[in-house]
Amino acid sequence: MSISSSALPAAALWLALLGSGCGPRAATSGPGAGPVPLFGGERTATRKVAAPATVGAAMYSALCGACHGEQGRGDTPLAGELDPPPSDLTRCNFKLRSTRAGRLPTDEDLLRSLYVGLPGSAMPSFGDRLPLPSLRALVQQVKLRCDRFAEETAGEPLAVLDAPGARAAVRARGEGIYVREGCRSCHGPVGRGDGPAAGTLVDAQGRSIRPRDHARGVFRGGFRAADVYRAFSTGLEGTPMPAVPEEVSAQDRWDLTRYILSLSDDRSRVWRAMTRPPSWYEPMSRWRRPWQKN
Ligand code: HEC
Ligand code: HEC
Repeated sequence: MSISSSALPAAALWLALLGSGCGPRAATSGPGAGPVPLFGGERTATRKVAAPATVGAAMYSALCGACHGEQGRGDTPLAGELDPPPSDLTRCNFKLRSTRAGRLPTDEDLLRSLYVGLPGSAMPSFGDRLPLPSLRALVQQVKLRCDRFAEETAGEPLAVLDAPGARAAVRARGEGIYVREGCRSCHGPVGRGDGPAAGTLVDAQGRSIRPRDHARGVFRGGFRAADVYRAFSTGLEGTPMPAVPEEVSAQDRWDLTRYILSLSDDRSRVWRAMTRPPSWYEPMSRWRRPWQKN
């Protein structure tokens, strides 16, 4: 596939950027009663791209090209300066997904990454700067650069996104799950990223990669309980970070989440400021400000 750079005049780009800020609201559905399967319980409405593809292409060049490259290969001069480097979008290894390991992310997952950015990396947040139709057009530009989107669907998103109250989860119990699920081998005995396997890990492109030091509070996918729950439930594609087996119960997952979060505090956490509350995306409307407790 080849992506031709658009010859759109700059004026059209700015028109697109300044376009209406009020996007369609996502249909929300309350959590159902009773046990929910890990995957498949939650569905988000699919909406069409509002901005034409040429406008999307121009926006991609202007806003993403410097890091990800025109074709999406992440091979730009600037990329060499960044750690972690910008993703090679053509490899389709999306870390942040609500879907099973090995599956593609949903449009909403990509939208979320563009909206909030990836804390702890150079990937900026565009949610405060671009109207929703422009963000959706950029999601389509990302999908154009990964051939798998032409043949595959994302699959069922992770169902459980509502954390029980903090008292329902016991930190010490979570530590037991952390040990049982083998997190120590990479993240170390108390989560400082210094497990026995830590020095040996490589990503899908053969580059050396470190397990996260949980005390530093860096979460690419966000530090709300639901974000952390999601990260180890779906794994981070393209990295050695696995998904925990689907048999692990929701209670175990929440306890594990509490344990991971107990290793950092609000002051240490890396977060991205947002001035507009993102009410259009239901899971994100529960996004917490850094001064709020998890
Ligand atoms: C300043 C550099 C920079 C710019 C500009 C930038 N990105 Fe990124 N982007 C990154 C980096 C770095 C990562 C990798 C983070 C990581 O691996 O944890 C990334 C990751 C991503 C990912 C992968 C997320 C995942 O789940 O793994 C997507 C998709 C993405 N960027 C899309 C975009 C789009 C679309 C734009 C333009 C609107 C853009 N980026 C602009 C640096 C940038
Ligand atoms: C094989 C090694 C390995 C094992 C085992 C492992 N991790 Fe990781 N984990 C990683 C690496 C590497 C990263 C950093 C990936 C990156 O920087 O993109 C990571 C990142 C994370 C993150 C950060 C997610 C985010 O949003 O940035 C969390 C949370 C996490 N791991 C939790 C766990 C838990 C819980 C377990 C046990 C169930 C576990 N990990 C087991 C290697 C591992």
